[in-house]
Amino acid sequence: MPQPVQQALVELSGATKQYQLGGAGILALDNVGLRIDAGEFVAVWGPSGSGKSTLCNLIGLIDSPSAGSVSFRGADAALMSDDQRSTMRNRSIGFVFQGFNLVPVLSALENVMLPLQIGGASAQAAKAAARLRLEQVGLGGQMAQRPAKLSGGQQQRVAIARALVAGPVLVVADEPTANLDTANAVLIIDLMREISRREGTTFVFSTHDDRLLARVDRKVMLRDGCIADDVRQERADYRMRVYS
Ligand SMILES: Nc1ncnc2c1ncn2[C@@H]1O[C@H](COP(=O)(O)OP(=O)(O)OP(=O)(O)O)[C@@H](O)[C@H]1O
Ligand SMILES: [Mg+2]
Repeated sequence: MPQPVQQALVELSGATKQYQLGGAGILALDNVGLRIDAGEFVAVWGPSGSGKSTLCNLIGLIDSPSAGSVSFRGADAALMSDDQRSTMRNRSIGFVFQGFNLVPVLSALENVMLPLQIGGASAQAAKAAARLRLEQVGLGGQMAQRPAKLSGGQQQRVAIARALVAGPVLVVADEPTANLDTANAVLIIDLMREISRREGTTFVFSTHDDRLLARVDRKVMLRDGCIADDVRQERADYRMRVYS
């Protein structure tokens, strides 16, 4: 019997992105085809300027291609209105950034509550959900701290809790470990992978650090805006860690 075909979570087809800089066109992505399924844990890697951020922005529906298509759960993003696209993004996609991007005057707890409150949740419901997420990333004891009182690794864990609090199906992280030392970078990747395993959340993150690549299920290498390599590897079975 034929197997039912699973719908891709995100699918890029012939995706090309050209930027205009002065009079010249810069081809940041060149005819990229890429399918990402629900639950995958994927690293996008490659040298500086190879198109990693551009690809993350297309996958996260932050930007649209100059040619070709990006679909999310079978729906072509180009056929959605701006409102539909941002609703889809707010409901289904979480983001983590290189610079953590936390609100400095808010506590860790308030930062994580924010997406839910913007979405209309009560303060009580937002607080309960944010507490659970902060405990999950090992920051149960630091909820009242402002970002400046936390280490870089701790700030990035707050950002991961914030990205997850509204229950996204996909988290897109552009260079989430670029500002961290190796030990903290490994902690962040392992934390994301554990959450992906446990909850089935799809993660796509970019990195230029090839030491992290052994820890992912799939590594997509970009070179000059093209996919140079796309490798699936055996799921490594890492033990649970305790985060402090
Ligand atoms: N807004 C923009 N305007 C013009 N050119 C851009 C813009 N954004 C990116 N580019 C160019 O597109 C190409 C791909 O850039 P991109 O930022 O996606 O690469 P990257 O792999 O993320 O690089 P890095 O490792 O330095 O973050 C580069 O040549 C870059 O200079
Ligand atoms: Mg980049």
